[in-house]
Amino acid sequence: MMPEKKLIIAHRGFSAGCPENTLAAFRAAEKAGAPMVELDVTLTRDRQVVVIHDDAVDRTTDGKGPVAGFTLDELKRLDAGAWFDPGFSGERIPTLIEVFDALGKGVGINIEIKGSAAAPEFPPDAVERQVVRLAAEHAGHRRILISSFHWACLSRVRELASRVNIAVLSSEPATADAVAVCRGLNAFSWHPDCEKLDGAEVAMMRDAGFRVIPYTVNDPGEIKRFFEMGVDGVITDDPAAALRLDLAAENR
Ligand code: G3P
Ligand code: MG
Repeated sequence: MMPEKKLIIAHRGFSAGCPENTLAAFRAAEKAGAPMVELDVTLTRDRQVVVIHDDAVDRTTDGKGPVAGFTLDELKRLDAGAWFDPGFSGERIPTLIEVFDALGKGVGINIEIKGSAAAPEFPPDAVERQVVRLAAEHAGHRRILISSFHWACLSRVRELASRVNIAVLSSEPATADAVAVCRGLNAFSWHPDCEKLDGAEVAMMRDAGFRVIPYTVNDPGEIKRFFEMGVDGVITDDPAAALRLDLAAENR
């Protein structure tokens, strides 16, 4: 029997070779054949959905200060590529819509909502509402997977969209409570920290009916070890390496 294809998710795009969460990184992941890219979203001061991992712009741009302190126009003036390599200077922080527009419809998008962008009062322009709306308007037929470490965000996403794929992120190993949370959300997958993942957890979550896709696995030996443990995919900075391993497994 042919082994099932693994879902290789390019973490912040092809971030091993490009500045993370930029259009260059997402296009490189698509070019490498990644079936899905992962990105992080948060809100600007004027409540626009932008793609950046940290709460501050300092590490990945030439600016300083919290993302939530900039309007979209102000953020767009920052360089988001030169910190990684001068060859990428001119890259900008993309909006979520710009990523949808930049990628072919065959590439899935795993949208990770940063808990810091979520407001408990759930206003009309709440990040969850905007992400669900933008996905409905721009995704076309491509696969969308909405994830968060902030499980309250995921409950709100589920209330808004009964059919969207949800992934539950966790930095802690799964417990019976985690299984109940995944059930309550009718989750597509469980995304655990690879550093703490073992075979028993993979078996427990898969037996409960949830795919297991750990983050962030970069070493080829580790990717192979997780594949053999029975995970359904990996979130990796180097999708090309992971795809080569999956292909090698298929051909065995
Ligand atoms: O979605 C998996 C992974 O991106 C979670 O961690 O901190 O890289 O967003 P982080
Ligand atoms: Mg992320």
